[in-house]
Amino acid sequence: MNQSELKKVAAERAALFVEDGMTLGLGTGSTVFFLVEAIARRVREEGLHIEAVATSSRTAKQASALGITMKDINDVDHIDLCIDGADEIDKHFQGIKGGGAAHTLEKMVATTSRRNIWIVDESKMVDTLGKFPLPTEVIPFGCEQVFHRLESENLHPHFRTDADGKRIRTHNGNYVIDLHLGQIKHPHLLKSFLDGQVGLLEHGLFLDLVDTVVVGTQDGAKVIDAVR
Ligand code: 5RP
Repeated sequence: MNQSELKKVAAERAALFVEDGMTLGLGTGSTVFFLVEAIARRVREEGLHIEAVATSSRTAKQASALGITMKDINDVDHIDLCIDGADEIDKHFQGIKGGGAAHTLEKMVATTSRRNIWIVDESKMVDTLGKFPLPTEVIPFGCEQVFHRLESENLHPHFRTDADGKRIRTHNGNYVIDLHLGQIKHPHLLKSFLDGQVGLLEHGLFLDLVDTVVVGTQDGAKVIDAVR
């Protein structure tokens, strides 16, 4: 199976965690694309009554077109289960997210959810976080100052750009600065530093958040409960 097929294996297994009556959080990305298809199929075939909050307009559009009832996060009082992709997961079940620049909305939905499941192909499981550049989201006002602060801390920042070299904007109209770190030896220390930076709205370190990881492997889907 190729990477895309492994993502589908994980997504389809995770869709089985959805129960009648749930309010769901739906993540963003190519793995979540398969998840939304699988959940919509269950809604159609089993008559599940669910509603969902999306972490991006891409996911909202897909889910709503497939008949899933979508809600604004401000109109729900809880989320039972959030299922999302990830860019890297280490052996302590800490993660990097934000490859699709949706990490601020994703973190908001994840921290509102009673349970979090991540769905990944096996290439995303790593010993140490950091090979995947760590996304941050910065507000345009003062973003050059934030950039220089990150540079002076040797965090190797790069503004994320599109194919034309133009800085990409998030859903919130902000910029993404990716930190090319190679290895993150102390994720909690880095998180504290980034959390304290004025103008840096959010970052893609998702620590102590996930409850279960579903990994697509050549032998099928593996469900792993996070142990910390
Ligand atoms: C988007 C994310 C995605 O969940 C992450 O990038 C994984 O994406 P994919 O499933 O396409 O590999 O964090 O901001």
